[in-house]
Amino acid sequence: MSDDRRLIEDYLPFQAISAEASREKSVRKGHISTLHLWWARRPLVACRAAVYGALVPASRFIPENGPDNKKQSFGRANAAKFMKRLCRYPSNSKPEVKADTECAIKEAQRHILEAHAERLTWETVKKVTVKDIEEGRAPRPKVLDMFAGGGAIPLEALRLGCEAYALDLNPVAHIIELCTLVYPQKYGKPDPNAQGMTGPKNEKGETTWGSLAEEVRYWGNWVLKKVRAEIGDLYPLIPDPEKPPRELVPDEQLSLFPDEKGQLKLKVPGGFLVPVAYLWTRTVRCKNPSCGATVPLVKQTWLCKKKGGNKSPGRYVALKVIAPKDEKKVRFEVVEATTQAGLGFDPSIGSKGGNATCPFCGTVADSGYVKAEGCAKRMGEQMMAIACIRPERKGKVYLSADDYPEFIPDDEVIRKRIDELCKRTGLTVPGEPMPPRGTLGFRIQPYGIDTWGDLFTPRQMLCLLAIVASVC
Ligand SMILES: C[S@@+](CC[C@H](N)C(=O)[O-])C[C@H]1O[C@@H](n2cnc3c(N)ncnc32)[C@H](O)[C@@H]1O
Ligand SMILES: [Zn+2]
Repeated sequence: MSDDRRLIEDYLPFQAISAEASREKSVRKGHISTLHLWWARRPLVACRAAVYGALVPASRFIPENGPDNKKQSFGRANAAKFMKRLCRYPSNSKPEVKADTECAIKEAQRHILEAHAERLTWETVKKVTVKDIEEGRAPRPKVLDMFAGGGAIPLEALRLGCEAYALDLNPVAHIIELCTLVYPQKYGKPDPNAQGMTGPKNEKGETTWGSLAEEVRYWGNWVLKKVRAEIGDLYPLIPDPEKPPRELVPDEQLSLFPDEKGQLKLKVPGGFLVPVAYLWTRTVRCKNPSCGATVPLVKQTWLCKKKGGNKSPGRYVALKVIAPKDEKKVRFEVVEATTQAGLGFDPSIGSKGGNATCPFCGTVADSGYVKAEGCAKRMGEQMMAIACIRPERKGKVYLSADDYPEFIPDDEVIRKRIDELCKRTGLTVPGEPMPPRGTLGFRIQPYGIDTWGDLFTPRQMLCLLAIVASVC
């Protein structure tokens, strides 16, 4: 082919694609990002634009007729018009927009096959048509993503009718790719001939495969129930300071009930908050021997940073570090305001570059000292806050851990439970060494975190072991 330049080499309407990509980031329902967190996942519409632009010729939208000096600008304007229709994330759009995007995807599939048929004809010196490709007599365009991460590029390549291949070095990414690209196609639909837990019974009286989503939901609930029975007591409900409960009913606080989809929901008795996150900071002892206070290493203490709109006020919540006189340990106070300035302090001035300043005497615990303390197994941790949800109300409730000392887990008791669980199940705390120092992405070994097990607090470790125990 004399000119095989592709659209991506000539022009893509970046501004429009970027705007749609930002919008897509806020769409949660039905998006692959909700399957599993992947830090580097690219927006689907941007991947769609890249795959499309890489497979159709630069000349695709250039009109045959018209003045030569205008052809290129007309071509680009046509390309922009088409790509704006193609690169939309349809999930929460109006039905007519959704239908038009579907239509644009079908057109894009045709454009890609036309370009591919032309290339195959040139390469094989034999006429290849779109029909040949569609009917399997000629291959589809192959798209290989050797660094596929969360699978956004191969997913869009599949959507555009290509044969997609995905690779990744990271086993988590590999599993995400299987769950995004392979399993939904292979196991997605109900199958009356396959055994399952959620489908109708067959003639032998066995339940059949009710679809991948139903089966995953069933087994997810099964795991949840077992894990909750093992460790649910370690995450107790918290009395709501706004409306304290009259009494705590321990049995009720663990009760699960199925909703209309069969998904297990936690039944929350009135007057309680549900804890969803416990926020901790690591600590070291002050370097100044005459001080010896506990120095928090937290970088910043923001909890919520929401700008106000026309109708709703902003919400800014952060922890204020208080160093009480004659004490050796800071307190964390939850401060809330409708503006950032209204907080009255800057939550972002914590440790910098691994150096933390003692709030009591001002001595800097430099990063070398912090690392040495870590290696000597003298690094501690302090719970700062508990983030909770209040049933049937939007937004989180933040509580200072200092006001709720009874909710700070007892590590010794938990360590005993870990030993007991390991004895009972044959599991072990992972004692394998971390990758060698200098491995990309691993910067924790200098702080004395030598094994995988060292990464977790006792309660986190017990929780992970309980999940593993429930499925083995
Ligand atoms: C920027 S991410 C890719 C993100 C992806 N486009 C998405 O939308 O999710 C780069 C990926 O390359 C993977 N990677 C790095 N080195 C690799 C190698 N030598 N072989 C295979 N994958 C590798 C990483 O594990 C990471 O998932
Ligand atoms: Zn000090």
